[in-house]
Amino acid sequence: MKIVIPRERLEGELRVAATPDTVRKYRQRGIDVVVEAAAGIHCAIPDKEYEAAGATVTSDTADLYRGAAVVLKVRRPLRETADGIDEVAQLAPGSILVGLLDPYRNRDLLAALAERGITAFGLELVPRITRAQTMDVLSSQANLTGYRAVMDAAHEFGRAFPMMMTAAGTIAPARVMVMGAGVAGLQAIATARRLGAIVCATDVRPAAREQVQSLGATFVMIEDAETARAETSGGYAREMSTEYQAKQQALIAETLQKQDIVICTALIPGRPAPLLISAAMVARMKPGSVIVDLAVETGGNCELSRPGEVVVRDAVKIVGWENVASRIAVDASSMYARNLQSFLEVLLDPASGEPRLDSGDEILAATLLTRDGAVVHPAFAATLPSAVN
Ligand code: NAI
Repeated sequence: MKIVIPRERLEGELRVAATPDTVRKYRQRGIDVVVEAAAGIHCAIPDKEYEAAGATVTSDTADLYRGAAVVLKVRRPLRETADGIDEVAQLAPGSILVGLLDPYRNRDLLAALAERGITAFGLELVPRITRAQTMDVLSSQANLTGYRAVMDAAHEFGRAFPMMMTAAGTIAPARVMVMGAGVAGLQAIATARRLGAIVCATDVRPAAREQVQSLGATFVMIEDAETARAETSGGYAREMSTEYQAKQQALIAETLQKQDIVICTALIPGRPAPLLISAAMVARMKPGSVIVDLAVETGGNCELSRPGEVVVRDAVKIVGWENVASRIAVDASSMYARNLQSFLEVLLDPASGEPRLDSGDEILAATLLTRDGAVVHPAFAATLPSAVN
């Protein structure tokens, strides 16, 4: 039984799917672990630490993938990398791939994986049930993302967060608004509060009120008949009606004028991010304000945000860094690697160590994307292998 940890090749991806700690755990189970050279270079993990944990390190790609039963990735495999590798073609037919495969935005990849005979699991589909909390990658990464977003805001902000009373004068505390009080949003609230800011937050799920208030922030929200249905059974938000959005925008426009920092985290799984801040609202914000848009990869919560850029408009900075978890790669990798290890505890039979694909386990069923040459997940099953060029 061989587990492979390739170096991540997606541009800007600094995380890695295993740490020496998780390698040691796999080795204790008698699993061979092969790590690609320099896989942990951006996470303060030199190759020799993987070796000390019992892994083999190789820079030969063919060696790396040969005889692999399970390939653990952070991001999806690429068809063409800067160093000329087709990562899908490297995967041996019949092997298992586990990672953040971003299935909603990469349906052609699913078809290609199916065609190659790969059994692929998408970790973003882990159900939010108690038993799966240890493998909830969306939460582990969003938590760090929320923290990092506040750090990025502080970096761009020309003022301090806490109130300071000094002989040279008094500095007023920064006012921070957090849009979307899920995992990232709640951590952003907690971080901004720790820095001494006055914080408010908004969401469409009424359940968020208590969580926001328990962190010492004010909750601002349009609550009507529609919000009673705003939360899905999985705990996520639904897309709201045009009427609701109009009411929400009026409230946001008024609140924004008093803020210095806005952290945008509002997402709807499988859909474009809700547009919450228009260019006109930005124009009415205080000069020197900073917006960090964590939703930029799915369209953004702010009309003006651009992926990978800091846009300055009307003296307001709009920060659109992508893949913010990768900006805190050491901790993000350590948590992600532990999430993966927990997932493998479900995937691999404790006695034989072999994958138990037919166990009927709820977590495996929810995350299984491709198997036996087909895209099998109900949300993506219409993706046919013939769609691949
Ligand atoms: P997410 O990343 O999909 O969305 C972030 C936030 O944006 C959510 O709170 C959502 O309600 C909000 N949002 C969506 N549309 C909005 C709009 N138009 N205006 C304002 N806010 C909007 O969600 P995330 O962070 O993954 O968490 C979703 C829920 O799942 C939360 O209730 C969280 O507490 C819960 N959860 C449960 C876990 C469990 O194991 N039971 C684990 C992790 C999260």
